[in-house]
Amino acid sequence: MRTQVGIVGAGPAGLFLAHLLHLTGIEAVIVEAKSRRYVEERIRAGVLEQGVRDLLVETGIGERMKLEGLLHHGINLRFGGEKRRIDFSDLADGQAVTVYSQHEVVKDLVAARIGAGGTIIFEAEDVRADGFEGQHPVIRFTAGGERHELFCDYIAGCDGSHGICRSSIPEGALTSFERVYPFAWLGILARAAPASEELIYAQHERGFALLSMRSPTISRLYVQVDPHEDLANWPDDRIWEELQIRLGGGTGWQLTEGPVLQKGITAMRSFVTEPMQYGRLFLAGDAAHIVPPTGAKGMNLAIADVRVLARALQSFYETGRTDRLEAYSATCLRRIWKVQRFSWWMTSMLHHFPEHTPFDHRRQLAELDYVTSSRVGGATLAENYVGLPFDDP
Ligand code: FAD
Ligand code: DHB
Repeated sequence: MRTQVGIVGAGPAGLFLAHLLHLTGIEAVIVEAKSRRYVEERIRAGVLEQGVRDLLVETGIGERMKLEGLLHHGINLRFGGEKRRIDFSDLADGQAVTVYSQHEVVKDLVAARIGAGGTIIFEAEDVRADGFEGQHPVIRFTAGGERHELFCDYIAGCDGSHGICRSSIPEGALTSFERVYPFAWLGILARAAPASEELIYAQHERGFALLSMRSPTISRLYVQVDPHEDLANWPDDRIWEELQIRLGGGTGWQLTEGPVLQKGITAMRSFVTEPMQYGRLFLAGDAAHIVPPTGAKGMNLAIADVRVLARALQSFYETGRTDRLEAYSATCLRRIWKVQRFSWWMTSMLHHFPEHTPFDHRRQLAELDYVTSSRVGGATLAENYVGLPFDDP
């Protein structure tokens, strides 16, 4: 098999890259380890930045999102017994975020790819990326019991944080930067009407909690837990009880409860690898970086990376020039580090850390009071939350 760009991974990064390349007449094949059903049902992120929403619409795959996505013009911060709103309309020039599940974005992208006659090889086993140090990259994999080779000009490693692309780069070529947080998020999806129209991020002495939603009848909720916590210790009643305390905070306001449809625990870390390129292999999305979820940035950052990569590949195929490809990593990293900073800041402001003293707790409350009472403080949160502009050339 031969194609122009071989893509490993059919998450948001790999699928959106293939879509953008298709729009500029560049051929790509995606090799994915899981089944179509699995990637279309994997519950993950839910918040799209304004620029990502616009990009989905501009590139012709935003129709269902426009109908079913929920446009949010603000978020709430709950702390010290109060709930205060950050108003994006006022503080971020009328921009907004869209609450629309990552797996719905994935479904839309898979349908677009297959509808356009593109190739996605699902359930590929023993996937290997080779030859990218020289001129002849190849992705090797087993599908349908047979070994295959996909020759290409470039490989895009969009295979997430546990993929094979990053680890196939020789040791010593990359530098990693990491911070592991001393807590995790236990997330549930519940058949319950969201008790608030907008998201609520709660800082509480028992730990962080978040109210989000997927539709007028489905809530998405998270509680901060110990990083080694066993899901078995969290029967549904305990989760609801904790959510009521942390999100309601004794105000009498109640979450609507309902059957829990799905639950899981996610570890929290910040991670960046530099550079995001080695020879003809380019890393994008979670394969290159991880953010803690407090800023709702992971999927947005994956989309921002592949936007840069698609433009660089377009420039190469149209002009033969490689300058944009060579600048890919540096261009992406400027945004990535700003988003890392924002995600770390939101995480630090809202969570309970084991080493926190009463001083730290007071400092957190003061910071929350500041961002919700100062225009400048509120604007910095709003500007980052709705998404920084795509400012690459
Ligand atoms: P992935 O989605 O991980 O896709 C990688 C793909 O590669 C997968 O399909 C995988 O099966 C495949 N793969 C892996 N290994 C191989 C292999 N060897 N061969 C072939 N294929 C392989 N982000 C936000 O923007 N907003 C949010 O609100 C948000 N909330 C989150 C909440 C939770 C609980 C979690 C877990 C994440 C959240 N994120 C959020 C982060 C977001 O989900 C990720 O950043 C996003 O999935 C990254 O997309 P990706 O395409 O880079 O990687
Ligand atoms: C959701 C996830 C996040 O990490 C976040 O910050 C906001 C919302 C969600 O899944 O809806």
